[in-house]
Amino acid sequence: MLLPGSTIGVLGGGQLGRMLAMEARRMGYGVHALDPDPDCCAAPFAEIITAPLDDVEAARYLAAHCDVLTIETEHVPAAVLAQIETLRPVYPNSAALATVQDRLRQREFLNRHQLPQTAYAAVDDLASLNQALSGIGRPAVLKTRTSGYDGKGQVRIGAGDDAAAAWAAIAEAPAVLEAWVQYDKEISVILARGHDGDIRCYPLAQNEHRQHILHVTRAPARVTPAVVQRAQALAVAVAEGLGHVGVMAVEMFVLESGELLINEVAPRTHNSGHYTFGGCVTSQFEQHLRAICGLPLGDAEPLRPALMLNLLGDLWANGAPPLARILTHPGARLHLYGKQPRAGRKLGHVLLLDEDLDAAQAWVDAIVG
Ligand SMILES: Nc1ncnc2c1ncn2[C@@H]1O[C@H](COP(=O)(O)OP(=O)(O)O)[C@@H](O)[C@H]1O
Ligand SMILES: [Mg+2]
Repeated sequence: MLLPGSTIGVLGGGQLGRMLAMEARRMGYGVHALDPDPDCCAAPFAEIITAPLDDVEAARYLAAHCDVLTIETEHVPAAVLAQIETLRPVYPNSAALATVQDRLRQREFLNRHQLPQTAYAAVDDLASLNQALSGIGRPAVLKTRTSGYDGKGQVRIGAGDDAAAAWAAIAEAPAVLEAWVQYDKEISVILARGHDGDIRCYPLAQNEHRQHILHVTRAPARVTPAVVQRAQALAVAVAEGLGHVGVMAVEMFVLESGELLINEVAPRTHNSGHYTFGGCVTSQFEQHLRAICGLPLGDAEPLRPALMLNLLGDLWANGAPPLARILTHPGARLHLYGKQPRAGRKLGHVLLLDEDLDAAQAWVDAIVG
């Protein structure tokens, strides 16, 4: 058990690393983070080691100065984790990360565990793309196996779209073709699993994406208790199958029939879990720290229903966004990550704690559209 006073090492210093560091510092832990940018989001709360995430020597240096290591992005080479897990405990471990960070291996893992997902096929060249399209049909979505996020590295292929153009659009990178899902809702399960296998699930999050980027999360999701139970059981099966330790997010599609398909697994804290930081007894960041440090897990119960709105750089296009107006909501909590505005970039989020989430949603729509 690593008690406060110990030092946490984080690979990546983006906003997830920043909020992890904030919670760690509050609890009395030291934090070191590895990031290519010395002024990264985590910099005000952590000692930054400036180096690319694939720099093995820098990762070894980080490990030497920390008691336990973790990641805030899955885009850390698993081989780097394999190098440092001989020095210190690392969560998630390199094997779990290798499975999840490659979309094809992730789908094969789900398949092996008989977990429900959309139809998919591996794509390595234009010929295999054409073959996959005739098997899977259209619409479909082509996604690079690695390095994708916020809809980057993916292209939808509709009825009239040219396969060669789609293949070029993802720079001819090894990919997976997936059948497009006509879903009713998107949800995610945020959970934490401890060293001892203890698991805590947070209230189900319901997610609305715009241009493949998360726009709004509401928790609890508007789904039946049966869907909640089934979604949590699927997420627990994923966490146990991977032997995961720490927080993880499992994104799912809910079909009209109530059937669930797993879309994506993230072995880390997650954007759709931001509502826990202020909206639940234990934030996902504190929970992750507790899990990787071998402390008892905290209560995942909600304090109040919550709606989270992502603040993208586009809101800054014509000067400062209406933050003061947003804060007139009595249950608003503002988080800004200290980033420079750029279109499509996540600059922060606002959490609205409100018994009436429909009213909170209408209020947000009236302000940001
Ligand atoms: N097969 C699919 N069918 C329907 N929508 C999809 C599909 N794959 C992705 N999407 C949409 O795009 C969003 C982002 O895709 P995702 O695979 O989660 O990648 P990432 O979050 O890494 O960018 C999803 O949340 C969903 O809204
Ligand atoms: Mg996703």
